[in-house]
Amino acid sequence: MSHPRLTRWIHGKCEKLWWVVGGGAALTLILLSCSSFEPSRAILAPPSIPGAEFVGSENCATCHEAIARDFRTATHARLKAEGENAKNIGCESCHGPGSLHVKSGGAARTIVNPRRSPTTCFQCHLEVRAKFNLPHHHPVLEGKVSCADCHNPHKGDAIKGGGTNLPQSLKGGGMALLSQNETCFQCHAAQRGPFVFEHEAMREGCVTCHSPHGSVNQRMLTERNQTLCLKCHFQQQTVGGKLFIADVDHSSFLQQGTCWSAGCHEAIHGSQVTPVLRY
Ligand code: HEC
Ligand code: HEC
Ligand code: HEC
Ligand code: HEC
Ligand code: HEC
Ligand code: HEC
Ligand code: HEC
Repeated sequence: MSHPRLTRWIHGKCEKLWWVVGGGAALTLILLSCSSFEPSRAILAPPSIPGAEFVGSENCATCHEAIARDFRTATHARLKAEGENAKNIGCESCHGPGSLHVKSGGAARTIVNPRRSPTTCFQCHLEVRAKFNLPHHHPVLEGKVSCADCHNPHKGDAIKGGGTNLPQSLKGGGMALLSQNETCFQCHAAQRGPFVFEHEAMREGCVTCHSPHGSVNQRMLTERNQTLCLKCHFQQQTVGGKLFIADVDHSSFLQQGTCWSAGCHEAIHGSQVTPVLRY
């Protein structure tokens, strides 16, 4: 028995989600590409708890009233299954089947808490796991940072401070991104400032320069060299063989290292002493 679930757009690609509900507690999520309809990408199962069955989200609401109420606004509330043969396993898609937990009145170790392991998230976000395996990454797999430090599982936008589903102009541009920066400031207070000389790039959000999950580049940078800066500081060249940035010839500087490591703009987030971003 199968039910088309929801269609999502990820990186411009359309995918249909199907819940395939078999007998008893067997339940599988399949991602299908809309264009091909080949059951290609992944066949995934929710977290399992030996001996437990799915009971449905209404059961959770009796004891976790506030979470269940807020959950209606959550990005992941859209995952709830519908139809006669499907239970609404919204909560249990991340927490695993809840029958033992419910029966025991909430005893310890009867339910999955994703704070302790992101495995539950990777069943649907496989591509994200690969990022956390890159050489420079937030230590989530190491258990020092949790997905929930940056993402709301139960309420509102899954991406704290605003999702990426909407074009920036619709999100109110800078404001949404500034509140996304707040997530980062919880742990990285030094980048908050205040700075006497602010680098305006910060208003575009930390993710303009950093890949928050992980990157091949040091400091999780999105680019390893001056390309990072030339995204915004591009200047049409008029003199052959020379590279002007802010009307200063940078041709010889760029051989000495990156813009931030050559001793030129090392206070890249903002400076207390000079507008050219030095310490
Ligand atoms: C009969 C009451 C009751 C029901 C029903 C119930 N819980 Fe719980 N739950 C508790 C209690 C009590 C705790 C432990 C104290 C706390 O963290 O609030 C708990 C804790 C949890 C935890 C944290 C566990 C941990 O190890 O950190 C999660 C997650 C959870 N419940 C999810 C669910 C889900 C999902 C459902 C529905 C399938 C559900 N609960 C139904 C009573 C209940
Ligand atoms: C997208 C996955 C996901 C879904 C869906 C989900 N949760 Fe959670 N839940 C989490 C994560 C992640 C945590 C850990 C949060 C943290 O530590 O800040 C958590 C923690 C909890 C806890 C422990 C107490 C707490 O707030 O830390 C309870 C209870 C809970 N969830 C209940 C529910 C209920 C009830 C539902 C359905 C209405 C639900 N969850 C749906 C991911 C999810
Ligand atoms: C059962 C599958 C499933 C599980 C489990 C799941 N997700 Fe999701 N998640 C989705 C789907 C599908 C979407 C896209 C929803 C949409 O766009 O309407 C999504 C969206 C998101 C988004 C927002 C993406 C955006 O562009 O706005 C974040 C962030 C996210 N999930 C994080 C998590 C985290 C963290 C966990 C584990 C606590 C988790 N997810 C568990 C299926 C899942
Ligand atoms: C250090 C903060 C941080 C942590 C930890 C983190 N994320 Fe994210 N994540 C973000 C930010 C910020 C974005 C938005 C990126 C953007 O706007 O380009 C994002 C985007 C996403 C998206 C949607 C876009 C995409 O890259 O696919 C998903 C899904 C997601 N995260 C899942 C997860 C899961 C699952 C975990 C835990 C295994 C996790 N994230 C841990 C900060 C974090
Ligand atoms: C819950 C705390 C926490 C949050 C929230 C958080 N980080 Fe981190 N961040 C860490 C930890 C822990 C490390 C690893 C530090 C280490 O390895 O020494 C780290 C490392 C980094 C590094 C690499 C630093 C280095 O020295 O290589 C960058 C860049 C970074 N984070 C950016 C961000 C951005 C951008 C955000 C918001 C999207 C964010 N962080 C949110 C805890 C956090
Ligand atoms: C204009 C690009 C840019 C933006 C925007 C940006 N960073 Fe960085 N960040 C860098 C560069 C470049 C480095 C590497 C500096 C070095 O290695 O000396 C860095 C390094 C870091 C480090 C490592 C410690 C350090 O200061 O060297 C952390 C943590 C960090 N950034 C967090 C953040 C946070 C949080 C935000 C958003 C509030 C942010 N960054 C926005 C470019 C940027
Ligand atoms: C998201 C766009 C963006 C990125 C990426 C960016 N900048 Fe900027 N930067 C700005 C803006 C906007 C200003 C303020 C207007 C101006 O001076 O051009 C600025 C100003 C500066 C200034 C001060 C110039 C002056 O004369 O006052 C320096 C130095 C600078 N940036 C260096 C860098 C370096 C180095 C990088 C790469 C690590 C970088 N920027 C990446 C947008 C960006």
